[in-house]
Amino acid sequence: MASSAETRFHDPADLSPSELARLEDLDAPALIDWAFSRYGLGVQVASSLAVEDVVLMHLAVKRAGPEVRVFTLDTGRLNQETYDMLDRVKATLGVAPRVFFPDSQAVERYVNDHGANAFYDSVELRKACCAIRKVAPLARALADAPAWLTGLRRDQSVTRAALRKVEVDSSGRVKVAPLSDWTEEQVWAYCREHRLPANALHAQGYPSIGCAPCTRAVAPGEHARAGRWWWEDASSKECGLHTKG
Ligand code: ADX
Ligand code: SF4
Repeated sequence: MASSAETRFHDPADLSPSELARLEDLDAPALIDWAFSRYGLGVQVASSLAVEDVVLMHLAVKRAGPEVRVFTLDTGRLNQETYDMLDRVKATLGVAPRVFFPDSQAVERYVNDHGANAFYDSVELRKACCAIRKVAPLARALADAPAWLTGLRRDQSVTRAALRKVEVDSSGRVKVAPLSDWTEEQVWAYCREHRLPANALHAQGYPSIGCAPCTRAVAPGEHARAGRWWWEDASSKECGLHTKG
C-alpha cells in the first residue's frame, strides 16, 4: 500500500465526523451516488465475484453506467466456478472486471522457499501468501483510485462488526461499504429480483468464497465464514485486504 505523504489522496480530515455520521444514514444506492458524485469514475469497485459483489456491481452500473471500473484480484488459486463468473458478469452486467495478478517472481520465491501449500503451516505463512497474492495486487489495482467500493457486510464476521459505511483506509483512500448493513438474505433477495448470475459454489454450500485451497463448504447452521481458513481461529480470518493500517 502507498504510505508516503505524496501518495495519499485525501486527508481523513476531509471527511468530518458530522459528514461521516450523515453517510451512515444513507442506503446503498444513495451511498454509491455520493461516492461517484464526489470521486467520479476514479472510484474502483472491488469484486471477488461472490454474490455480494455481483449485487454491488449491479448497483454501481445502475447508478454510474457501464463505464464503472471494476477489478478482480486473481490470486492464481481461485476456483473454476469463480473464473466462470468473469464471463457471466460481462454477459449480464455489461462490465468486464479488470483482472490483477500477483508478481510472478514473488510467487515463485514463496513456493520454492515454503512449499505450494505452505499456507496451512502457520498463520504467518498464510498471511504471507495473502500478502503476495492479494494485498500487493490490490495496491496496483487502486493505484490511481481516490475511492473504492467493497461488498463487505458487518454480519460476516467478528472482525467486521464495527465496519463503518465510509472509512479512510491505511493508504488514505476512501473505502465505501454500501452493503455494510445488509443481511445475507437481503443480498440474495436482490440477486433473485434482478436475475443476477451467482457463483455456482454458493449452491454447493459456500456462502463465502475465496481461494480454492483456503475455502470449503459449510454445514447447515455453521457461520457463513466458517469455511474460510477453517483451520484458523475466527479472530485471525482476514487476508490483509481489509485490515486497518
Ligand atoms: S476476504 O478479505 O476475506 O478475502 P471477502 O471474500 O469476505 O474478503 O470479501 C470482502 C470484499 O473484499 C468483497 O466484497 C470485495 O469487495 C473484496 N474482495 C475480496 N476478494 C477479492 C478479490 N479477489 N478481488 C477483488 N475484490 C475482492
Ligand atoms: Fe494464499 Fe490462501 Fe490467501 Fe489465497 S486465501 S492468497 S491461497 S493463503
